Amino acid sequence: MRLTIIGFGIVGQSFAKLILDRASELYSVYGVNPRIVACVDTKGVAISPGGLDLRRLLDIKKTKGTVGGYDPEGYKIREGSIAEQIDCEVMLELTPTNLQNGEPGISNIVAAMRSGKHVITVNKGPLALAFPSLMELADYNNVMLRFSGTVGGGTPILEFAKKCLKGDKITSFKGILNGTTNYILTKMEEGLAFETALKDAQNRGIAEALPHLDTDGYDAAAKVSIVANWVMGMKKTICDVDRIGIAGVTLKDIEEARKRHNAIKLIGVAEQKKLSVKPTEVSKMDPICVNGTLNAVTFSSEHSGQQTIIGRGAGGVETASSVLRDLIEIKNTIYEI
Ligand SMILES: NC(=O)c1ccc[n+]([C@@H]2O[C@H](COP(=O)([O-])OP(=O)(O)OC[C@H]3O[C@@H](n4cnc5c(N)ncnc54)[C@H](OP(=O)(O)O)[C@@H]3O)[C@@H](O)[C@H]2O)c1
Repeated sequence: MRLTIIGFGIVGQSFAKLILDRASELYSVYGVNPRIVACVDTKGVAISPGGLDLRRLLDIKKTKGTVGGYDPEGYKIREGSIAEQIDCEVMLELTPTNLQNGEPGISNIVAAMRSGKHVITVNKGPLALAFPSLMELADYNNVMLRFSGTVGGGTPILEFAKKCLKGDKITSFKGILNGTTNYILTKMEEGLAFETALKDAQNRGIAEALPHLDTDGYDAAAKVSIVANWVMGMKKTICDVDRIGIAGVTLKDIEEARKRHNAIKLIGVAEQKKLSVKPTEVSKMDPICVNGTLNAVTFSSEHSGQQTIIGRGAGGVETASSVLRDLIEIKNTIYEI
């Protein structure tokens, strides 16, 4: 399968390393032989119709800071979108999340699907802002749009709900969908003030470059809207999520909750067509009451009752593994047709 990667940062490079390490197993176990034919970052593009040498690509990105150094002559592309111009089966859209207008992700995804390519993205922006229309466009063009890594990083929250609970009807879900705020609240439980806990998260590299995206609940709200669309068939965007962040949570609130054997967590909820993200008191006995950077979501369904899935919500290699899962699913679906 020929792939184009747009965005070669933490997730993109982790994905390239993953397929390098697991090439023979991917072929022998899953029948997948991924060839990256083009790779794009902000400063350049590397193209090889026969497949890029991934070791060299990673090395050039490391030493030159851009994949553009792969071909010393430089590669001339026509005006317009690379997502349209490159001949491949699947485009991986791995650019930064932009929750204001979804760009450059939306344009890349639309251009790829319009030119008949399947798309895998880990970028929450396009889906949080335009899920229903992107899915319609995928159907219209008879291509697949997959996005497991947008929620839960490597933890298969979306697949769990969509596949393991197939045939059942999910009536609501609630959970912790942002590891950074969960880390900050966990540190506050240990006695650190909000600002100190946030600094600690930043020093450990687990906060977004713009920390308010986490602390004001935008990231969690984006994920709530994606899960609600995908597993409950709602047609909502991030703008429909009633959102309160954690900046107003005090050490006193946390202490009061502790006396009641509860903890304060940033909980996303979808219930009766309403979506919200708010600091909420949760019993320490509740399975979603996890600590540190963990994510946890409980799905309530008509017949199977409540099921909870817990796991690490981010990380380069974890998220790259979700891209690989989506790729295997696309390959399996193509060959079923
Ligand atoms: N890291 C995680 O743990 C994680 C987990 C779940 C989801 N995600 C999502 O995954 C996506 C990628 O995350 P990341 O951590 O890999 O980010 P990153 O390290 O910042 O990498 C982003 C990449 O996109 C490239 N890029 C930016 N704008 C571009 C444009 N207009 N055209 C082409 N390339 C462009 C950047 O180029 P340069 O290299 O030239 O700057 C960089 O290579 C984000 O949407 C993020 O929210 C990440």
